[in-house]
Parts: sequence; C-alpha cells; structure tokens
Amino acid sequence: MAILEVHNVTMKFGELVACNSISFNVEEGAIVGLIGPNGAGKTTLFNCISGLYKPSGGNIFFNGEEITGLKPYEIARKGAVRTFQVVRPLKDMTVFDNVLVGAFLYSRENRIAFEKAYECLRLCNLEHLKDKIAGELTIGGKKRLEMARALATNPKLLMLDEVMAGLTTTEMKASVEVIQRLRDHGMTIMIIEHVMEGIMPIADKVIVLDGGVKIAEDVPASIVKNEKVIEAYLGTKYSKRYREKKVERTDGGAYT
Ligand SMILES: Nc1ncnc2c1ncn2[C@@H]1O[C@H](COP(=O)(O)OP(=O)(O)O)[C@@H](O)[C@H]1O
Ligand SMILES: [Mg+2]
Repeated sequence: MAILEVHNVTMKFGELVACNSISFNVEEGAIVGLIGPNGAGKTTLFNCISGLYKPSGGNIFFNGEEITGLKPYEIARKGAVRTFQVVRPLKDMTVFDNVLVGAFLYSRENRIAFEKAYECLRLCNLEHLKDKIAGELTIGGKKRLEMARALATNPKLLMLDEVMAGLTTTEMKASVEVIQRLRDHGMTIMIIEHVMEGIMPIADKVIVLDGGVKIAEDVPASIVKNEKVIEAYLGTKYSKRYREKKVERTDGGAYT
C-alpha cells in the first residue's frame, strides 16, 4: 500500500517553477531516495509534503487521506515528519531537552515521553552527549540531533533532508545503519542525499529531479545506468564504481 501519494505537485515562486507537476508514490515500509543537482526542487518538494509550503497545484495524500495545504503541525501529528537541511536545534537547550520536545508530540505523559527521548538518543548515538548544549555540537552531532528529534515524534514517514552531508565516513555508516534499523521496525523513509554511498545501497527506489521536473524513478541499479540521470547529475564516476561493484550493499544483499 502507498503511504504517500504525490499527484502533479507544482510549486511556483513568482516565475520560477521549483516543482513542476511531480507525481510518485511511496510504498509503506520503503526507503526512497530523492536525488538531483542543487536547485532541482528536492527541499521544496519536502516543504510541500510537510506543509511548510502550500503547493501551487496538485494533491498530496498520506495514508489515503488528503493533506494538501494542511499546517505542518497537523501533518506531523498524522505521522509525516521531516528534518531540515539547515539544522535548527533549540540551541540554548540541552541535547536531551531538544529530543524531549519531539517526544512530547508523541505522548504528553512524562514517563512515556522520557522513555521515547532516551530510545531516540540511543538510536542516533547521542546518549553520551545528552547534557551538552545543542548549539555546541559538531555539525555531525547536530545532524544526528535533528534526526533524533524527528524520530522522537514516532513518525510513520520520516523525511530526511541531507542528514549525511558533512559527516565523516564513520558517522555516515552509523547513519546508514540507523536508517536501516528504522526501516526494519516498519518506518517509511524518504531521503534527500548527495552522498551516493549513503543512499544507493539502501534505497528500494530512487526518484531523480532536475530543474523541478522528475526525470527518473527506478531501482538504484537502473538509476545509475540511466543516461538522463548520468547527464543531469551522476556523471560517470559513481556509476562506474557501482558497476564494478565497488559500492557494496551495507545489508550484505545483492543489487537486483
Ligand atoms: N522560498 C523560496 N522563495 C523563492 N525561491 C525559492 C524558495 N525556496 C526555493 N526556491 C528556489 O526553488 C528552486 C529549488 O530549490 P530547492 O528546493 O531548495 O532545491 P534543492 O533542495 O533540490 O537543492 C531553487 O531555484 C531555489 O532558489
Ligand atoms: Mg535542498
């Protein structure tokens, strides 16, 4: 079943068409990658789905229910939650309190919210930093906090906007593992990412945007061979490494 249905979504800023009649479905429990060059419209699409922008045209359905134009908190309450590319923690609060803010959206009961916050700190490898002031974290730490805060709301659909940018290889591998663990627990995940090693091995499907238009939607193995995608975005470097099997699936499985 599709948990998210996007039908002909268009977002205009004056003359600029940032998203041009984009349509796709996201199946429940899937990991879907959203890639494309800077300015392709990826973040704008997340903004439309999460209610930050009201699309100029088109319809969005979540769990079979139309959510087009609803407020961000209404959409979050229904279970579709995103992170921000430009991280914005409540920087004078501790890491724990930041996550707790998210957890109180999940439950107003102290005990349940605290447990949820601890669980998400553990999942995102932030437990040891829980008493640190959020503004003092490294960029990697802030990205993980952004993810923990979103997770604490217990979303059905988690939309991650470049959470791996600027991370070390070790941090990136840890993030990939967290994302796989979440999927194993039944969460649906959409992920905008420039770090191909972070997305290609774990995505069930990849959607490619270029200039506001969807130019491809396919399994990773086909995306990296797609001439349009290579020309618009991938170049040949990643595709070549991929074809030579230098990029291994982190789950040990085979590309199909
Ligand atoms: N609030 C806004 N007002 C005007 N133009 C915007 C706004 N948000 C995004 N854009 C423009 O829309 C296009 C797509 O941007 P964005 O969705 O951020 O791309 P991506 O995330 O793929 O890099 C860009 O040309 C950007 O400048
Ligand atoms: Mg963006």
